[in-house]
Amino acid sequence: MSLLGKKLKESLDYLQRRIPQSPHLGVILGSGLGNFADLIENSLIIATGEKIPHCPRTTVPGHDGLWIFGKIANKPLLILKGRLHFYEGHSMSEVVYPIYLMHKLKIRNLIITNAAGGINPLFHPGDLMLVVDHINFFMNNPLIGINNNQGKNRFPDMSHPYYPPFLEIAENTAIDLKIPLQSGVLIGTPGPNYETAAEVEMFRRLGADAVTMSTVPEVITANQLGVKVLGLSCITNMATGISEQKLNHAETINVAKQAQNKFQQLMKAIIERLPDHQ
Ligand code: HPA
Repeated sequence: MSLLGKKLKESLDYLQRRIPQSPHLGVILGSGLGNFADLIENSLIIATGEKIPHCPRTTVPGHDGLWIFGKIANKPLLILKGRLHFYEGHSMSEVVYPIYLMHKLKIRNLIITNAAGGINPLFHPGDLMLVVDHINFFMNNPLIGINNNQGKNRFPDMSHPYYPPFLEIAENTAIDLKIPLQSGVLIGTPGPNYETAAEVEMFRRLGADAVTMSTVPEVITANQLGVKVLGLSCITNMATGISEQKLNHAETINVAKQAQNKFQQLMKAIIERLPDHQ
């Protein structure tokens, strides 16, 4: 067994001893969006770094680092409140460790959310954006190195990184709930500084609608493992140069919190409509 395989087994053994029921769905909550976890019923909360063997811990304000097991809309799920970022100094394989662990837990559907800066000039702070595709601008890749998928799928196809039937469910849900939902291409950068205006202009020309410092590595790994992904961004600010406003993390979290009502409503209704397991 590989070193990663051994670590995952120990993490998994720990979780399986504690959780009452295997979750069908995983949800990763981005900056300022963590309150969605309050909707979960019968929750069992496990602090990542302290408790789960080998699970790296997060260091960012606004990211608690909790694994929360419970139910929403009667569906057993796992919410990861507080993800790991590349800019914290974690290696790429640490950043995606939770994805491998979720896969071991037999999670096959995953909702990944994030805060993002709006590049598309038609967007506004507080908008929600369905991620239809992404650009990996991390200059790195979580799949580099020994193949952590037991030799399988070394060269994953990325023609549909965001599972098309989930896109349709999200769009229809937003229409039914009358919640405005933008859609667009997300570009992922390492951060942690916000972009320069010239970088944002480059990203715009490359075809990006929004920019974030997370998500892309997790989505690549999920695709390698055959986990189906839905991506949802909260546009917390217009990216540098699109608006004159200076950027800071506190404001990002603030705007995400203002959008939290519609974010929670949309997420809950999408979860209700997602197929149970395939
Ligand atoms: N850039 C990168 N990541 C972000 C931003 C941004 O403007 N806003 C929220 N996350």
